Amino acid sequence: MKGIFYFFVLACVASACSTFTHPGLLHTSEDFDRIREKVNEEAEPWMEGWKKLVASPYSDPSYKPNPASIIYRGYDGTHAENYAQLYQDVAAAYVLAIRWSVTENSTYADAAVGILDAWSANLTEISGTVDLYLAVGIYGYEFCQAAEIMRTYTEWKNFNRFAKMMLRVFYPAINQWFVGHENWGSWGGGVYPGWDLSQIAAAVSIGVLTDNQTIYQQGVNWFLNGTGNGQINNAVPYTYWYDNQVLGQPMETGRDQGHTMLDIALFAAIGQMTYNQGNDLFAHNDSIILSAAEYEARYNLGYDVPYKAYGNAYLGLPIISNSSRGNIRPTWELLYNHYGVLKGLNTTWTKKYRDMVVENGGGSEGGSGDYGSDSGGYDQLGWGTLLYTLEG
Ligand SMILES: *[C@@H]1O[C@H](CO)[C@@H](O)[C@H](O)[C@H]1NC(C)=O
Ligand SMILES: *[C@@H]1O[C@H](CO)[C@@H](O)[C@H](O)[C@H]1NC(C)=O
Ligand SMILES: *[C@@H]1O[C@H](CO)[C@@H](O)[C@H](O)[C@H]1NC(C)=O
Ligand SMILES: *[C@@H]1O[C@H](CO)[C@@H](O)[C@H](O)[C@H]1NC(C)=O
Ligand SMILES: *[C@@H]1O[C@H](CO)[C@@H](O)[C@H](O)[C@H]1NC(C)=O
Ligand SMILES: *[C@@H]1O[C@H](CO)[C@@H](O)[C@H](O)[C@H]1NC(C)=O
Ligand SMILES: *[C@@H]1O[C@H](CO)[C@@H](O)[C@H](O)[C@H]1NC(C)=O
Repeated sequence: MKGIFYFFVLACVASACSTFTHPGLLHTSEDFDRIREKVNEEAEPWMEGWKKLVASPYSDPSYKPNPASIIYRGYDGTHAENYAQLYQDVAAAYVLAIRWSVTENSTYADAAVGILDAWSANLTEISGTVDLYLAVGIYGYEFCQAAEIMRTYTEWKNFNRFAKMMLRVFYPAINQWFVGHENWGSWGGGVYPGWDLSQIAAAVSIGVLTDNQTIYQQGVNWFLNGTGNGQINNAVPYTYWYDNQVLGQPMETGRDQGHTMLDIALFAAIGQMTYNQGNDLFAHNDSIILSAAEYEARYNLGYDVPYKAYGNAYLGLPIISNSSRGNIRPTWELLYNHYGVLKGLNTTWTKKYRDMVVENGGGSEGGSGDYGSDSGGYDQLGWGTLLYTLEG
């Protein structure tokens, strides 16, 4: 017995242990136990969040998926862009998966897997312009969330077909992004961090979903040590000791605030997923993700922040941008609960932004579809008051 045990442990270390926690992307089974208990007790603020989710058109079990065999993002001169079909169905699959996890009513499970199955039966390619990488990255990571929840539903027969779709349709472009980056000229240093961060989130998600440590580690390595602008020290190039806390200046804050908010939301997703796999990127470099969130929240609430001109061979960002200042995206509950409640760190501005977003949502953070009908409104899955609140 002892010999076998040691053999297993050593094999695991030698091959960079390929055992993942499931479900273990944005949510674990412990998270769903908490959420279910709080909803059953009708405890606040979870109940506010639950009511908002149930009222979403995406939580209706009669929702009909609208799959395509080829998704186009970016107009290639011939094909109409159709990527809204994908992000809307992704939103519905996720909401229905949550609704099943909370109620344990199979009507919602069947509806969620119906959407996942419709896509895995039809989708063969993601195309368009270079914008296809945004589709692969953002919808790739989001789609995995629903499948990772539904993998525990014993009636779902087509999990493997969905996993193969992620590997055959989404992953090749993500891999190409990582391995081809240096040869892309301005597409290397000249793309803003959000592009890289979406590829990182997708690699982490696909790696966990398909139990592939190589793919998972590709994402983690790119975040820590990649040559792109999503590498954390490029994405947040400067930190300051300012007003009794560390603030981290996101690169993209010199471009506009909406895109920077997307970066913050992708940091939050990457942090949460890796944390759930025992590999806490939230904590990396003295919690630089928190420092960036604090900076961004402070500036977007109308307060001053320090700013240093950023430049590389392709990008020059001499001053902070006030374009779309105050942009609202549903990611602040996740950040506040992790850093403020779980870790007890200074979340002064993150908490204020959370409070503002919750108030804007009528008492809870909403999700896909509540923040506009264009792609930006679907770039975050949201529902944070229900999903991430740790204390009432
Ligand atoms: C499950 O949900 C469906 C759809 O809302 C509902 O009609 C049905 O009564 C629910 N079943 C149970 C056991 O609650
Ligand atoms: C999706 O695939 C199914 C099964 O192969 C097929 O019946 C259906 O027509 C396809 N739908 C679309 C929109 O291509
Ligand atoms: C993981 O993915 C990589 C890259 O596609 C592949 O080479 C490798 O065989 C996969 N490993 C497993 C265990 O499936
Ligand atoms: C970081 O990447 C470089 C090449 O880009 C490599 O030489 C180095 O070993 C990597 N470091 C780590 C810690 O992965
Ligand atoms: C932490 O981040 C800052 C800003 O990007 C960087 O200057 C510093 O080298 C980083 N430190 C470590 C240990 O990664
Ligand atoms: C936390 O940050 C705020 C805002 O910068 C600052 O006013 C406060 O003193 C900090 N709190 C602690 C305990 O350091
Ligand atoms: C926004 O920034 C521009 C400079 O880029 C400046 O001219 C303008 O006054 C600023 N607007 C506000 C409302 O601060």
